[in-house]
Amino acid sequence: MKITYYGHACFGVEMNGKHLLFDPFITGNELAKHVEIDKIPADYILISHGHGDHVADAEAIGKRTGAKVISNFEIVSWFEQKGLQGHPMNHGGKWTFDFGTVKYVSAIHSSVLPDGTYGGNPGGFVIWDDDQCFYFAGDTAVTMDMKLIPMLCPKLDFAIMPIGDNFTMDIQEAVLAADFVDCKKIVGCHFDTFGYIVIDKDAAKKAFEDTGKELILLPVGESADI
Ligand code: NI
Ligand code: MN
Repeated sequence: MKITYYGHACFGVEMNGKHLLFDPFITGNELAKHVEIDKIPADYILISHGHGDHVADAEAIGKRTGAKVISNFEIVSWFEQKGLQGHPMNHGGKWTFDFGTVKYVSAIHSSVLPDGTYGGNPGGFVIWDDDQCFYFAGDTAVTMDMKLIPMLCPKLDFAIMPIGDNFTMDIQEAVLAADFVDCKKIVGCHFDTFGYIVIDKDAAKKAFEDTGKELILLPVGESADI
């Protein structure tokens, strides 16, 4: 699968000819100044929770592209009031779209929208088709609920996880989370954007290597086949 990193927790993933965009926060990110948001393709915008550093550019990109928002009920309702299309989900639920099946899974975090509207419970997504499966954890601590993912979903090919500490998992927790979801290939996110979450990237990669795993840290604006 081709994945593109737009900085912070924002990724584009191409799956079965559709462009999935996760947690769009670009214009407010100093590290993503070179990313042209008017050129980002999106058929679906998947949003893990309501915080500004995950939704800030969703309305603009959704209006330009006509992309459908996939998130919890509260967040989808908020975007529908702004004129976007959406597909509401909640924990434990899954739905098969034209690109694959999405399951909305637990995250330990908080969720409120930028205007103070209740943002429902934060979540993550497991997404698969017959050949491939990946996990977008969203902002979360490591949680025992992650152990349910290999019991309920196909084997993960890779997982996108926060590693920046302070607001989410740190490296040590992310290594444990990778064990819980039974995945050896982790794409890191939610690091370096703000002072609170600056990490030592070499030490982070080594921590994964030392446990037989791979940590992929994509430069902002770059794509990789994973
Ligand atoms: Ni957050
Ligand atoms: Mn965040």
